[in-house]
Amino acid sequence: MRVLVTGGAGYIGSHTVIQLVAAGHDVLIVDNFSNAKPAVVHRLESITGVKLPVHAFDLRDADRTEHLFAHEQIDAVIHFAGLKAVGESMEQPLAYYENNLGSTFSLVRAMARHDITKLVFSSSATVYGHNAPVPMKEDFPTSATNPYGWTKVMVEQILRDVAVAQPRWRIALLRYFNPVGAHPSGTIGEDPSGIPNNLVPYISQVAVGRREKLRIFGDDYSTPDGTAVRDYIHVEDLAAGHVAALARLASTDRAVSTWNLGTGTGSSVFDVLHAFERAVGHDLPYEVVGRRAGDIAASYADPGRANEQLGWTATRSLDNMCADAWRWQSQNPDGYPDA
Ligand code: NAD
Ligand code: WQD
Repeated sequence: MRVLVTGGAGYIGSHTVIQLVAAGHDVLIVDNFSNAKPAVVHRLESITGVKLPVHAFDLRDADRTEHLFAHEQIDAVIHFAGLKAVGESMEQPLAYYENNLGSTFSLVRAMARHDITKLVFSSSATVYGHNAPVPMKEDFPTSATNPYGWTKVMVEQILRDVAVAQPRWRIALLRYFNPVGAHPSGTIGEDPSGIPNNLVPYISQVAVGRREKLRIFGDDYSTPDGTAVRDYIHVEDLAAGHVAALARLASTDRAVSTWNLGTGTGSSVFDVLHAFERAVGHDLPYEVVGRRAGDIAASYADPGRANEQLGWTATRSLDNMCADAWRWQSQNPDGYPDA
């Protein structure tokens, strides 16, 4: 298939592009580079060995989006583009609603006009809200605790409504748990701008000497070691889940399918820290501080539906995730180059 990957220069998108090409798909990318560097494209081309057409514009620009669909043959779309920082979304709610909803509106309108009806959407485990029991299942009610999370709840609902109106659509809502790790080459990885919000990028920067120590947000949760538990999934496994979901959309009768992409295993903050220390080969400095507002004690997937319906299972271990994250960070201490 010829697959348009929105946000294809970003963290998860870039890893997915590599696996799409490996699976025999033609890929084209749209990205406005608001949270990505052009250098990633050259690295993707050297890994895949193919020239990747990149369209650098903002998807909210409906005219440019329409122009792209009018001039390119596209069979399916994987829609990663969006803003993703929870804290920032609380400070700039309108920017999050505008970007994450606006980009989806112009994309889906252009798809409908050109009768392209296969869409894979990047949703998130954040749609399970604050009080969901674990493991989390796709039929749980959805809610959110911050504007970022609400954009995911809302886009899911918008896409379900599109599918009711136009039942020939085939839409996958993929709810990712906590993506971490990097391509095994160490040349593609996560490159957060500013101070990392997420655990593994923060530990990586401590390990490489860019931050003094990890601050562990709370050790008084009712979890085995008191720190919060998450379902960390290797970005390579996550990328494979997209390739599997795309294949499944070609054969399913359901207009909308929702799949959790997680391992089903919870790991604590200390589990992650210690796995990272094994990757680096020495202890890393940390201190325990108070809980972070909005955090929940435990989140992990029931990935059974994706295992069964996609024939997909996450296979990479936490040690593997940390080893790959460390290879990327140690080879690229400052992330991607600017030029
Ligand atoms: P990312 O920021 O690395 O990638 C998103 C890409 O989209 C960036 O390259 C950015 O430049 C681009 N982009 C943003 N707005 C755009 C617009 N209006 N037009 C064109 N391009 C635009 O993020 P990621 O971690 O790769 O996440 C990809 C998707 O997965 C996002 O939708 C995110 O919300 C979702 N998700 C991420 C996580 C996570 O922890 N990383 C977890 C669950 C869901
Ligand atoms: C993991 C654990 C922290 C940093 C977020 C979004 C979620 C999804 C994935 C997009 C928590 C602890 C963290 C640090 C710490 N994104 N921690 N010190 O919060 O599970 O999920 O990213 O959809 O929507 O909310 O991930 O990596 O921020 O935190 O102790 O410096 O690590 O408290 O327990 P989270 P995270």
